[in-house]
Amino acid sequence: MDTETHQSGGTLRLVLLGPPGSGKGTQAKLLVDRFKIPQVSTGDMLRAAARAGTALGQEAKRSMDRGVLVPDATIVGLVRERLGEPDCSCGYILDGFPRTVAQAEALEKLGTPLDHVLSLEVPEDELVVRLAGRRTCRSCGAMYHVQFSPSRGDAVCDACGAPTYQRDDDREETVRRRLQVYTTETEPLVSFYQERGLLRRVPGTGTVAEIAQRVARALGV
Ligand code: AP5
Repeated sequence: MDTETHQSGGTLRLVLLGPPGSGKGTQAKLLVDRFKIPQVSTGDMLRAAARAGTALGQEAKRSMDRGVLVPDATIVGLVRERLGEPDCSCGYILDGFPRTVAQAEALEKLGTPLDHVLSLEVPEDELVVRLAGRRTCRSCGAMYHVQFSPSRGDAVCDACGAPTYQRDDDREETVRRRLQVYTTETEPLVSFYQERGLLRRVPGTGTVAEIAQRVARALGV
C-alpha cells in the first residue's frame, strides 16, 4: 500500500480499542505499513521491559501473568514518555492504551487530540479460540495462529527463522480473567469516546483483509 497522510494537518492519532484477541495488534501492523506512523503497544512495551528484567518489567509481568491490569500511574508514565519521542510527532496508533477511564483522561491531558477511536467487536467464543492458537516470533514479533495463519515451519517464524512461542497469559484461565477485566475496566471507554464523537464500531470477524477494509472505511481513507 502507498504511504498516506491524514487530512488533519498530516497527522493521525488513533486508538484501537477492543478485547484481548480482537485483532488490535494485527490491524495496527497493517496501519503502520500504510501510514508510516508507529504502533504504540503498551503490552509489547511491558513484555520488553519484563524480558529486560527491569524492576518495572518484573512488576508488570506479575500483573500480566494474572491477567489483571498494571497500575494506571505506571502505564501513563510509560506512554507519556513514548509519545514524546520524535517518531510520534506525525501521529501514532495506540494499541492497548487507554484501558481505563483514568488512562483516557490522562491521555486527554497531554493535549494532543485524537482523530479516531476504533472499537473492534468480536464475539467472546472467537476471542478464546484466537488467543489459544496465537503464536508470536521471539525475535521479530511476527504473529501467527496455529489454525488461521500458521507459520510454514513447525514453531519457526517464516520471516526470520527464530522460534515462535505462546504467551504466558494466553492460557485459557488467564484469558477468561482478561476478558472479565476488559468488561469491567475497559468497556466503559466505548461510551466515553462515543460521548466525544470519536468512536467508530468495526465488526472484527472475517478475514484480516476484510477487517482492514472496514478499518480503512471507518478512517475515511
Ligand atoms: P496486550 O498485549 O495489550 O494484550 P490484549 O489487549 O489482551 O490484546 P492481545 O494482544 O491479546 O490481542 P489483540 O487484540 O492485539 O489481537 P491480535 O492481533 O494479537 O496486554 C497484555 C497485558 O499487559 C494486559 O493483560 C495487562 O496486564 C497489561 N497491559 C497492557 N496495556 C495496559 C494498559 N494500558 N493498562 C494496564 N495494563 C496494561 O490477534 C490475536 C490472534 O488472533 C493472533 O493469533 C492473530 O493471528 C489472530 N487473528 C487476528 N485477526 C484475525 C482474524 N480476522 N481472523 C482469525 N484470526 C485472527
